Amino acid sequence: MRILAIESSCDETAAAVVEDGEQILSSVVASQMVTHGKYGGVVPELASREHLRAIVPVVREALLRSGTKLEELAAIAVTVGPGLVGSLLVGLTYAKSLSFASGVPLIGVNHIEGHIHAVIMEARRDGTPVELPALALVVSGGHTHLFEVTEGYHYRLLGKTRDDAAGEAFDKVGKLLGFGYPGGPVIDRLAPHGNPRAVKFTFAKMKGNALDFSFSGTKTAVLRWVEARDMESEIAVRRALLHENPAPSVEQWLAVTPQATLDLVASFQHSVIHELLTRAAASAETIEARSLIVSGGVACNSGLRERARAARLPYPVYFPTPGLSTDNAAMIAAAAFPKLAKQEFAAFDIAAQANLRLAG
Ligand code: KG4
Ligand code: ZN
Repeated sequence: MRILAIESSCDETAAAVVEDGEQILSSVVASQMVTHGKYGGVVPELASREHLRAIVPVVREALLRSGTKLEELAAIAVTVGPGLVGSLLVGLTYAKSLSFASGVPLIGVNHIEGHIHAVIMEARRDGTPVELPALALVVSGGHTHLFEVTEGYHYRLLGKTRDDAAGEAFDKVGKLLGFGYPGGPVIDRLAPHGNPRAVKFTFAKMKGNALDFSFSGTKTAVLRWVEARDMESEIAVRRALLHENPAPSVEQWLAVTPQATLDLVASFQHSVIHELLTRAAASAETIEARSLIVSGGVACNSGLRERARAARLPYPVYFPTPGLSTDNAAMIAAAAFPKLAKQEFAAFDIAAQANLRLAG
């Protein structure tokens, strides 16, 4: 049973063919990093245009690499939301047309459910299936959410960010310090070179739901720290480096980053990880979770992986391999597989939903 999945919710055009919900036969991701990098963030209009350019060759490549013909598919899965509506529309419209032309049924998938299923799929394939109930921490550029996952893949929202997503905080700090966009991967590589305890960040105590996150305070603290120092020239040097070379090596970054800034970067990452893991562990305890799933782009973060491992939590912690952490279509196929079994097909009038929720 092969599913072709299409994902275009943000700035990656992706298609994949997955067999029986676990074997990835092909996974193609066309990144728009180069397009958006110079603007310091995703520009929605440019994203839609790039998706339009990429969608046909990306889907064709995914089918070709997997040796699958359209009519051999059991279903065509597609992300319906959440995401940028202009981007979602490209993938959704193309998936509908393929489904209409071939008679292969269509399955609509929530992007966040895809991130969770990336982990469930890999764990099952590796012979160490995720035991439910699980606590899922989805951390990316757009979301920072805690869900309870119960049998039959039902979801309950336990906590979420009240302001910036964790990845967004990484991106804003990266941009502010002259490390370009996206900030997460650069900060991750530089953090081990700084002292994580050098700068203290205090987190506001949450009124209301104690499992909610807030990252705007940390971001503002970084801004204040920068404003209190004369950092303009060092930031300008880093921007110039990026202008010459869009992907500098760690050594090149280190050569233009003073120790105090490395300490700031390390401390920022340390405090974000602390915030994520503390809330995740508290939520897992309240639902008596039997496993913890961490997924989404920020799940790539090596500091987060290390600290989650070092915490010796009383249940297994699952992270996706890096290729399945950031946006991809294999995870959409994985999330569609249980829906195929239940014949949960979508009608042709299904609409893209920028703010689609996974659970209340
Ligand atoms: O899941 P994703 O590809 O797209 C969204 O759905 O948002 O996540 C992208 C986000 C960006 O904010 C990026 O900075 C962050 O994930 N990210 C990281 C790392 N790799 C990507 N953040 C921290 N450490 C990383 N290694
Ligand atoms: Zn995502």
